[in-house]
Amino acid sequence: MSISIHHIAIAVHDLEAALAFYRDALGLEVTRRREVPEEGVEIAFLPAGEGEIELLRPLDPEGSVARFLEKRGEGLHHICLRVDNIDAAMERLRAAGATLLSPEPRVGADGTRYVFIHPKSAHGVLLELYEK
Ligand code: CO
Repeated sequence: MSISIHHIAIAVHDLEAALAFYRDALGLEVTRRREVPEEGVEIAFLPAGEGEIELLRPLDPEGSVARFLEKRGEGLHHICLRVDNIDAAMERLRAAGATLLSPEPRVGADGTRYVFIHPKSAHGVLLELYEK
């Protein structure tokens, strides 16, 4: 099984202000930007070598990203690892006692299957698994 870092997600209050830093000052390019109403966020992806930076802005003031910002302010929100078989990875994690945030993988607009793992299981970091 191969695992690689797919993206590192940063929660921000204002996407334009964050792009002024990550795109304009740092020089990364935005390749995808869209609203994901089912997750209550707007996201922008900026590839950096083999991985990407994902900027996350809450759309829903009651959603989990809005609550995260309220509690901790802007910063690292989650790390996403790409796996080749998400079902096998989930089975293995469950067998090891890890807490998954959904019983089945969710499916993104682009067909990506993904699941989140509770930070308590991952030593303080929210982890996302992606299968493409
Ligand atoms: Co993500």
